[in-house]
Amino acid sequence: MAVVYPGSFDPVTYGHLDIIKRSRRKFDKVIVAVLNNPSKKALFSVEERIELLKKATKNMDNVEIDCFTGLLVDYVKGKDISMIIKGLRAVSDFEYELQMALMNNRLNTDIETFFLMTGSEYSFLSSSLVKEVAKFDGDISQLVPKEVELAMKEKNLIK
Ligand code: PNS
Repeated sequence: MAVVYPGSFDPVTYGHLDIIKRSRRKFDKVIVAVLNNPSKKALFSVEERIELLKKATKNMDNVEIDCFTGLLVDYVKGKDISMIIKGLRAVSDFEYELQMALMNNRLNTDIETFFLMTGSEYSFLSSSLVKEVAKFDGDISQLVPKEVELAMKEKNLIK
């Protein structure tokens, strides 16, 4: 069975990679789908985010990187897939994720959302916090893959 793991991935973190690695052990194929949302200001362009994800997953043969616009359920259905994977970090994620899962299921009752609890070592981690830490020259080497750290240096976000 193939699944879609959607998100902003601005940029990909070790928390995302934890979900990807664990999903690929349980499913035949994992499509990591980057939302292309021009109205949301992002640090990395969709192309850059895709490139970083491709580098971070280069040894994972059943992982594919893609992007989508519009409704997630339409994208998932277009791929002939009926399962969405999401990571849950803390109780604070729950309410928003529940809303999205219920809305997606209402939009298309064939599509279910499966939640994986993020590994405890990454339960505090988010792309926004990584950007915040990097902006003030904090050490992000334990939070994101090397290529993401380098890309953030290129954006002059860290020294
Ligand atoms: O990494 P994020 O920002 O938490 O990911 C959120 C994402 C991309 C999964 C969500 O915003 C989404 O699916 N957007 C697509 C638009 C859509 O389908 N909205 C209705 C869902 S309730």
